Amino acid sequence: MSEWISLDQIDAAADFLRSRLPFNPRVGMILGSGLGEIAELIRESVVIPFSEIPNWPQSTVEGHKGRLVVGELEGQKVLISQGRVHFYEGYSMAQVAFPVRVMQRLGIEILIVTNAAGAVNPDFEPGDLMLITDHLNLIGMAGLTPLRGANLDELGPRFPDMSQAYDRTLGELARQAAAEKNIRLREGIYICLAGPSFETPADLRFLRQIGADAVGMSTVPEVTVARHGGMRVLGISGISNKANLDGNTVTTHEEVLQAGRIIVPKLSQILRGVLQRLVL
Ligand code: HPA
Repeated sequence: MSEWISLDQIDAAADFLRSRLPFNPRVGMILGSGLGEIAELIRESVVIPFSEIPNWPQSTVEGHKGRLVVGELEGQKVLISQGRVHFYEGYSMAQVAFPVRVMQRLGIEILIVTNAAGAVNPDFEPGDLMLITDHLNLIGMAGLTPLRGANLDELGPRFPDMSQAYDRTLGELARQAAAEKNIRLREGIYICLAGPSFETPADLRFLRQIGADAVGMSTVPEVTVARHGGMRVLGISGISNKANLDGNTVTTHEEVLQAGRIIVPKLSQILRGVLQRLVL
């Protein structure tokens, strides 16, 4: 597959999925590192491995199952991507966001993105959840954006607005759901770096100074495409580790996956609460 994505490639995947799905899903969900278990909440699901879907990028990282799970959850028709692909795996930004394009063509109006992230805000602890109120598109500023290249006018405008990348109403539903279950929900700014190396202490001091609360290697390209396509977005980070601000904290992928076990039950409750409150 080339760096660029065509409408035909997107529609080949969307047509294939339409032929396999029992209904038109209304909510799309992308589950990040160590968070895929949430898809098991769906009963009577249709499961489709990424490898069967035309043009779909294949996940190469441990902690990402690499399949779609479709079914009903809290009365909503949802399509869940259990795992995602990242820029550091060798995919272009457009390829990374390909699943969101397909969701858009399937008529999905709401995208819920989750990720594992490192705490840049010193008040955050591993196991915390953070409602993403905005993001810093540092890699986009440096040129790594899925919207580079010819604009697909059928899918969205050349110069999309990003003033409300994360939907305020959906954020409020997440706050309500968290409060109802007595789950502490932090709030803050997510920053995406290309990875795959974790940050140096100097990187992290810089990220803190420019206003980041949590750092990860995903989500921003997907949200950029979702907003380009007019979808409403809810984003939640699972804080998997303290950032290495002092130079004495070692960060590992195992730690990230381990934290998922604490985060998943809380995140599941919040996501279920959001779906219950959603009026579509
Ligand atoms: N840095 C970048 N990405 C991450 C981290 C981190 O500390 N933790 C989980 N994903």
